[in-house]
Order: sequence, then C-alpha cells, then structure tokens
Amino acid sequence: NYPSSVSLVEVGARDGLQNEKAEVSTEQKVTLISLLAASGLKRIEAGSFVSAKWVPQMADSADVFARLAAFEPASGAQVTYSALTPNVKGLEAALSAGVSEVAIFGSASESFSQKNINCSIDESLRRFEPVVKLAHSNRIRVRGYVSCTLGCPYEGDIASSDVARVSRQLSEMGCYEVVISDTIGTGTPVKTARVLDAVMQHVPVNQLAVHFHDTYGQALANIHTALQLGVSSIDSAIAGLGGCPYAKGASGNVATEDVLYMLDGMGIKTGIDLSALLEASLYISDVIGRLPQSKVAIALRGG
Ligand code: HMG
Ligand code: MG
Repeated sequence: NYPSSVSLVEVGARDGLQNEKAEVSTEQKVTLISLLAASGLKRIEAGSFVSAKWVPQMADSADVFARLAAFEPASGAQVTYSALTPNVKGLEAALSAGVSEVAIFGSASESFSQKNINCSIDESLRRFEPVVKLAHSNRIRVRGYVSCTLGCPYEGDIASSDVARVSRQLSEMGCYEVVISDTIGTGTPVKTARVLDAVMQHVPVNQLAVHFHDTYGQALANIHTALQLGVSSIDSAIAGLGGCPYAKGASGNVATEDVLYMLDGMGIKTGIDLSALLEASLYISDVIGRLPQSKVAIALRGG
C-alpha cells in the first residue's frame, strides 16, 4: 500500500551546493531556488547557518534568505524555505535572516558526529535541545536529521538500535519530522526496511522522512522500500547534486527528477511539474559546468 501523495523536500541548494567546488554566486543560488519553487516544490532547503570555516560554500546563506523573502512564486503557493542550524548561534542567525523552518543534524555514528559537528552524539543532543526550544518559541518547526543510518564512512555498519535511539531522542525533543539519512549511499533495500522497522517502533511513520545519497545507485530502490512501509516525505536534490564534505566518498543525493518520474509513474501525487523541474536541473548543471547526475534529465534533455 503506497501513500497516495508524497511531499518532496528539495535539498540541492544546501546538500548539493555545500559540496560544490565550482563557485556558485548568491544570485545563481536564488535563481536556482526560484526555478525550483516555480516547478511546484513546496519545501526547499535553501542554506545552512554553520561555521564558514567548516563549509565556506554556505557562507552567503543569510543573503540567500534575504533575497528569497522578496520573491513570491508565480503560483502563489506557500513555499517553506529551510536551513540547517547546528547550534543556538546558527539558529539566531537563521531567525534574523527570516527562515521559515530549520533542521538540526545528528548522527547514529560517533565518529561521524565528531568529524561533522566536532562533538559526541550525546553532546550534540544536549546542544540541540535549546535550539529546538528557541525555534519553537519563535513558531519555527524543526526537522531532525540522523546521518549514517545505513553505514558510516569511518565505522562501517551501524546498529539499527543506535539509529532508533537517536531518532527517538530527536522526536521526543520536538522535531516534527526525523530524517533517516544514508549519508554515503551504501544502503540496500532489505537493510533500509530493517532500519526503518526499528525506527518505527519509536517514531510514527507519518513523522519520518528519508534522505538517500545515490553513491551506489541504490537510492530509488531504497525509496521504493520506504514507500511500501508508508513513508511519504522524501528528500532529493535537483540534478543529483550533493555530498557531505565530512563524509569521504559520499556522492550526490538521489536526483529529484528521477524520484518524480518514479512517483508520477506510480500515480503518487506530488504537485510538481517535471518539465519545469528540468529547467532548474539544466540551469544549475550549466552553472557548475557538468551534466545532470539524473538519468531522467539526461533522457529528456533537448528532447
Ligand atoms: P566548533 O569549532 O566545535 O564550534 O564547530 P565552536 O562553538 O567551538 O566555535 C568555533 C568557531 O565557529 C567560533 O568562531 C564560532 O563563533 C563559530 P571563531 O571564534 O573561531 O571565529 N561558530 C559558528 N559560526 C557560524 N555559524 C554557526 C557557528 N557555530 C560556531 N552556527 C560547528 C562546531 C557545529 C559550528 C562546526 O562543526 C560546523 O559548522 N559544522 C558544520 C558541518 C556541516 O555543515 N556539515 C554538512 C551538513 S550535514 C550533512 O550534510 C548531512 C545531511 O545531509 C544528512 C546526511 O546526508 O546524512 C544533513
Ligand atoms: Mg545529505
């Protein structure tokens, strides 16, 4: 039993561009985001309030949000522009910039937690608590990512029980959605089902999202598995952009075009128009001087 509709969360402008070597200007980011919004996407992760020493590509996030505030999509639809905020300092900057939603990001792997946010899992959860409280007191909803749920670049296999524990803690803290993330794309369908089953013992499926990187070409199969289990919130990145600078070997997220093509084929509603999405894909691929990492975009390009 598949969900009748799915909410796609577009992460290309954040997860994609945070790892991009080519220089992408603030204006180009805003153009990309406005093309994404014009395609019907309603949830767009547009930046990250992290240390510029750690992720220089996201240093202009406040400017991106300032420009987005002035931008209304032609459809008149409400679009939620969100940002990553690892601590209170990041949240305060995000609030000043006028973000409409934020995300905290923890990990099921100790080593990845240290490499990515420079603290242990337990310490990260302690730091997230005041972020969630302050966000809620400003009527801002919080998503909670759990990285390395299907493998870690430093530790290899991660126990499902560790994924379930961190997921439960983020949910209890007040995250409205917990994002089960395959940071390096090593997951396969049966393993995906096992991990989601373990998490669903603690977090209701309507509060779960999935976030797959496509390093090993398994993302669509894993998404199909998640859909069968009732997950209806899916992260993806336009043109398959993406990767995490602190996860060696991680390639891009699953491409939004490919996910949409599959969902359209299954009769699952998203409210997104594939040809409009393609424009965004070709635009950003042109900016970074590469072909889209999307089979669908390549198949339809110029056709
Ligand atoms: P730290 O060095 O332990 O932090 O970094 P600190 O509190 O000791 O501060 C050090 C310096 O950073 C200070 O500046 C702070 O002011 C500054 P200095 O005095 O040296 O000039 N600082 C900040 N600046 C801007 N914004 C902030 C902020 N906080 C402190 N929010 C910290 C800890 C978390 C800041 C750092 O490790 C960091 O920025 N990490 C970010 C890593 C990152 O962005 N990774 C990619 C995103 S996660 C991801 O991609 C995975 C995901 O896609 C899911 C998946 O696929 O798994 C979400
Ligand atoms: Mg990611």
